[in-house]
Amino acid sequence: MNRYVGAIDQGTTSTRFMVFDHSGTVVARHQLEHSQIMPRPGWVEHNPDEIWERTRTVVKTALSLADLTADDLAAIGVTNQRETTVVWNRRTGRPYGNAIVWQDTRTDRIIADLDAAGHSALIREKTGLPPAPYFSGGKLKWILDNVAGVRADAERGDALFGTLDSWLIWNLTGGVHVTDPTNASRTMLMDLETLDWDDELLAIFGIPRAMLPTIAPSANPGLFGTTKPDGPFKGSVPIAGVLGDQQAAGVGQVCFRPGEAKNTYGTGNFLMLNTGTEIVRSNHGLITTVAYQFGDDKPAYALEGSIAVTGSAVQWLRDQMGIIAGAAQIEDLAGQVADSGGVYFVPAFSGLFAPYWRPDARGAVVGLSRYSNNAHLARATLESIAYQTRDVVEAMQRDAGVALATLRVDGGVTVNQLAMQIQADLLGVAVSRPVVTETTALGAAYAAGLAVGFWHSTDELLDNWSEDVRWYPTWSQERREHGYRRWLKAVERTLDWAEI
Ligand code: G3P
Repeated sequence: MNRYVGAIDQGTTSTRFMVFDHSGTVVARHQLEHSQIMPRPGWVEHNPDEIWERTRTVVKTALSLADLTADDLAAIGVTNQRETTVVWNRRTGRPYGNAIVWQDTRTDRIIADLDAAGHSALIREKTGLPPAPYFSGGKLKWILDNVAGVRADAERGDALFGTLDSWLIWNLTGGVHVTDPTNASRTMLMDLETLDWDDELLAIFGIPRAMLPTIAPSANPGLFGTTKPDGPFKGSVPIAGVLGDQQAAGVGQVCFRPGEAKNTYGTGNFLMLNTGTEIVRSNHGLITTVAYQFGDDKPAYALEGSIAVTGSAVQWLRDQMGIIAGAAQIEDLAGQVADSGGVYFVPAFSGLFAPYWRPDARGAVVGLSRYSNNAHLARATLESIAYQTRDVVEAMQRDAGVALATLRVDGGVTVNQLAMQIQADLLGVAVSRPVVTETTALGAAYAAGLAVGFWHSTDELLDNWSEDVRWYPTWSQERREHGYRRWLKAVERTLDWAEI
């Protein structure tokens, strides 16, 4: 009975359910992808019904493969792609349309208008975020302004907003409408200090408060509800932890002390530095966000460097360019050449996020010559992941005033040895990967397990972390700096391109 903790990890490209034992070891898992719907340039949508269907299937399949039932689970956690915005009807449970994904740039005009109206400074001050299409507020405003009937329903309290955590918990529990401060801190609607929705911001965006979920601490034993017995768990399991996926990875990497940082390589890259109970404002293009709030403890905050396109640039080589058949092939292809032959690829598909925050940027491949081939482009793609990380590490070091000793990494791309070696080379810093790389699901499980006493303190979790591999820099300082100067030049070429 209650030997394990489960975690639903609803990510940008797939949904997984994993079960962990007390040592943080995975005992069950299943994962399914969902459709990426791109109806126009710059638009990216997900079907909320499809995601809920995938969630039910991965839960049922993982439990049955490992011969587990709801009774084996002390609690579950939920972690999710952040910012992606869903609106559904309270009475019917039906979404009003597809979710607008965090990568979607359709709200660039809304953001430009907010800026022109002089609201940017206030938004930054209250939320820690630079106004950008990335965050939920503009996406929710777009739905209210463009989808028939939503505004009237929202004003009556019938249309509900949520990020994917809220959508899944609503469905798992049969009607609990809730989120946590890590997810709410990505909306541009929450005050970082009060951890509550802010009326002034709601007025600026024109968002009725009645449609917003209750914000409850990321780890708590009662406020997220219990799974319905007729749902995928076929029993009542407490939902006791909720964290945005990047914050969950920080918890899974046991970054509990100020100064500890992790970098997750998924669809995008997200570097997070724990700043403790202090709200640190960035002067160099990072965002300030909530790292976690466990029970009645004070929240922990973080500085984050969000990069929109890293792993998804590899998918783009596979799906749109067709130069690799599977993501794993990029390592072989890029390994055929010793360098990128002067080619730089800046995958600014959704504009540029940290540290630039330029919605007007678009992707570019520069430095092509008659000599360039697929292998050079593959290598330039891996280098683009590492250079973008260097951009945010530089910003973080400037903000925090300390040099990074080691970079703790996790996420899909970290299985690529060449990519990690390039990362160490371009940064001039050692890169360290833990044994359990499923840190996102693990972090959500930790939050849930802490809430119900399955684990007793964060100290107990430190022992679960151990290093698997470490990559050391091999490049000369001269080669590193020359390459980085060229990268910065390539970035400049992408700016002021999209017509907003
Ligand atoms: O902010 C977006 C981030 O949460 C997405 O993460 O891993 O689902 O691509 P991922």
